[in-house]
Amino acid sequence: MADSTDRIRDHYQGSILDEDAMITKIASMLDQMGGPVTAERLATFDQFHVGGLTATAELAKRVGLTANLRVLDAGSGLGGPSRYLAETSGCDVIGIDLAPAYVRISELLAERAGISAKLRYQVGSITALPFEDASFDLVWTQHVVMNIADRDGLYREIRRVLKPGGRFAFYDPYALEDVQPPLHYPVPWAETEETTTLLTQAQTLTSLERAGFRKKTWDDVSELAKSWIKGQQAQLQQAAQPGFALSPGLVVGARMQPMVANFARNIFEGRVQLVMGVFEAI
Ligand SMILES: C[S@@+](CC[C@H](N)C(=O)[O-])C[C@H]1O[C@@H](n2cnc3c(N)ncnc32)[C@H](O)[C@@H]1O
Repeated sequence: MADSTDRIRDHYQGSILDEDAMITKIASMLDQMGGPVTAERLATFDQFHVGGLTATAELAKRVGLTANLRVLDAGSGLGGPSRYLAETSGCDVIGIDLAPAYVRISELLAERAGISAKLRYQVGSITALPFEDASFDLVWTQHVVMNIADRDGLYREIRRVLKPGGRFAFYDPYALEDVQPPLHYPVPWAETEETTTLLTQAQTLTSLERAGFRKKTWDDVSELAKSWIKGQQAQLQQAAQPGFALSPGLVVGARMQPMVANFARNIFEGRVQLVMGVFEAI
């Protein structure tokens, strides 16, 4: 298990050979960019899931956020979604991620956005959350669960840290209900199927109910993802280039471009589906 955690961490941040140099580089790119550091301006960099900021805003709409919420962003990546939530609703968000370099980048962006007081990031695995029982009003996750084989264990852990009546909001790729065609690899979350676990929608619903959740909303948003990709194709290809200023390619490296292209191909060929859901902790 520790072995697969290391592989997943390396997958995401293995191209960052010198974390300090990466932080200095991003800081200087932000200086050059000038102006306010808003979720919208950095969206092609730090919204690390298909659908970008559009998808994050869609999920937020389904939850209905308010300033008094204590939120956990499970697998917070480069910090785009958590900054968006704090920026738009004023809630307090803790982001947790396996990749220390991503945590440092998130901290830098929060500080440059001037909302560090609302955001905290820490390194850790969402499979063993370092938080008390019933300590959050909302757990939020986007495009992380595909790396986690023990989904029952993960959902139990998320349920544990939620207050009764608290909500779990997620946006993830799913396997098909009938025969699953193989995916094209590499994809943004994995080099091969060895670090991929996709459940079907039915398996996920069962797993969530077993963990103590009740469904509030459940939407297959595959068509939304397709229309977003069509609208963003040129921008995405450019943003995936390692040399392009503030792109995911900056942290993931040249591999980013085929990963993004394969993910889009898997979606258009119907090999994965995308679902957004909001569940309530019973
Ligand atoms: C595709 S990115 C998505 C990031 C972010 N949720 C977003 O949508 O912008 C997946 C992230 O999940 C993190 N991750 C994968 N497995 C994890 C685990 N077990 N615990 C914490 N973070 C994990 C990775 O380090 C990576 O930052």
